[in-house]
Amino acid sequence: MYSIAIDGPAGAGKSTIAKTIAKKLEFIYVDTGAMYRAMALYFIRHQIDPSDENAINQACPDIHVSIAYENGIQQVLLNGENVNGQIRTEEVGNMASKTSAYKMVRATLLDLQRNLAKTSNILMDGRDIGTNVLPNADLKIYLTASSKVRAKRRYDELVEKGVKADFDQIEQDIIVRDHQDMEREIAPLKKAEDAVLVDSSDMTIEEVVNTVIDAFEKVK
Ligand code: DC
Repeated sequence: MYSIAIDGPAGAGKSTIAKTIAKKLEFIYVDTGAMYRAMALYFIRHQIDPSDENAINQACPDIHVSIAYENGIQQVLLNGENVNGQIRTEEVGNMASKTSAYKMVRATLLDLQRNLAKTSNILMDGRDIGTNVLPNADLKIYLTASSKVRAKRRYDELVEKGVKADFDQIEQDIIVRDHQDMEREIAPLKKAEDAVLVDSSDMTIEEVVNTVIDAFEKVK
């Protein structure tokens, strides 16, 4: 059984890259951010204050996250309800970034993530996969890009959808998210010592995909 871990900051292109590689290698793609987002959606729906750790801890036992696959696409279930269509908003992303700092929130998802790697070849992306969830992964990638480049990609995505966007605001939000994800005490985002660093700032998607596949060919 092979496992590939891809970690990196918000907007580095992890999910695009991971989906493409998983398809090519016929691995199962596991998006762990979606699981934190499902928990965040629960906190939002129940109007739980993200700064109130006690309230978060009390809610955790009532939250059951699981995943399923429909036509090869990961669906995340929150207490049995498919919430894939509701977790991709900025509000949910920000709530996930804040609440994923708590021990109880992370513990709620850790076993689920580790168990998935026991049953199939997987490619898992997130913030702490190489450092914490799968420390023995066959290949670890730390995928990053400058905040300017990440903001530009996000900006272009929004403009393409016809959504009004403010570049400076987007970059500011990315910097805040980086800070939250990297400076938390438990399982912060950082490059695992044995991870391959890939800075995609000046790379195309294809170049990144090929870099990762070449690295995998060497270790398998
Ligand atoms: O990758 P994403 O934007 O969907 O993730 C949302 C938030 O979830 C991210 O800001 C931090 C948290 N997260 C985490 O703490 N650990 C992971 N393995 C994945 C995501």
